[in-house]
Amino acid sequence: MTEVVTIALPKGRVLRALVPVLARAGVDSDVLLADDRSLVREALQQGLRFLLVKPDDVATYVEYGAADIGVCGRDILMERSYELYQPLDLGVGRCRMVVAGVTGKPAPLGVPRVGTKYPRSATDHFARRGVQAEVIHLHGSVELAPVTGLADLIVDLVETGQTLSQNGLEEREEVARISSVLVANRAAYKLRQERIRPLVETLRVAASHPPAGT
Ligand code: PRP
Repeated sequence: MTEVVTIALPKGRVLRALVPVLARAGVDSDVLLADDRSLVREALQQGLRFLLVKPDDVATYVEYGAADIGVCGRDILMERSYELYQPLDLGVGRCRMVVAGVTGKPAPLGVPRVGTKYPRSATDHFARRGVQAEVIHLHGSVELAPVTGLADLIVDLVETGQTLSQNGLEEREEVARISSVLVANRAAYKLRQERIRPLVETLRVAASHPPAGT
């Protein structure tokens, strides 16, 4: 019987973008689209088991070996040094990490307060620019911080820009370009390479050949 590879995938919008790539790679994506609350999905005929986890947790599952490989945003990998291989950029989940503030309102003269889910990326960004900033760690709905006076600025992800504009915010600076990458557990990548590397190569081809019109 085929040795099972466990793959950690992020629940939510990146998963929806990933399904066509996985389908092109011949993965049975029906199990991923099934509308139920099960967090473990199996395509055992293909020797695959999927774990559906919070996007922030994929790298942790793979680093500790609870999953062999996974799909993780670069935003997460920028926040902490994980012991992982990153063999492939999948080209999905593209967005940007930016600094934003209230539209038309200049940043304060003193030390700006910056609300963000990404304290390390924000701290590094302002340090690189020689700007002292007080970084406030939040866990979501970050756009509320400048609207309510909690912070002067935010560092957050922007995809369409709608969340910024609908909350009266504007982009000020780009921090980084973000996309989803395949991450691999170091031991699994070495010890089970006959099983994992062909899978990575299949995904590489699927990711680099999107269907016409996309
Ligand atoms: C993300 C991000 C922004 C929004 C950007 O939030 O943090 O809030 O998407 O997307 P847009 O530019 O297309 O509007 P998410 O939906 O993941 O929820 P969160 O606020 O709970 O992090």
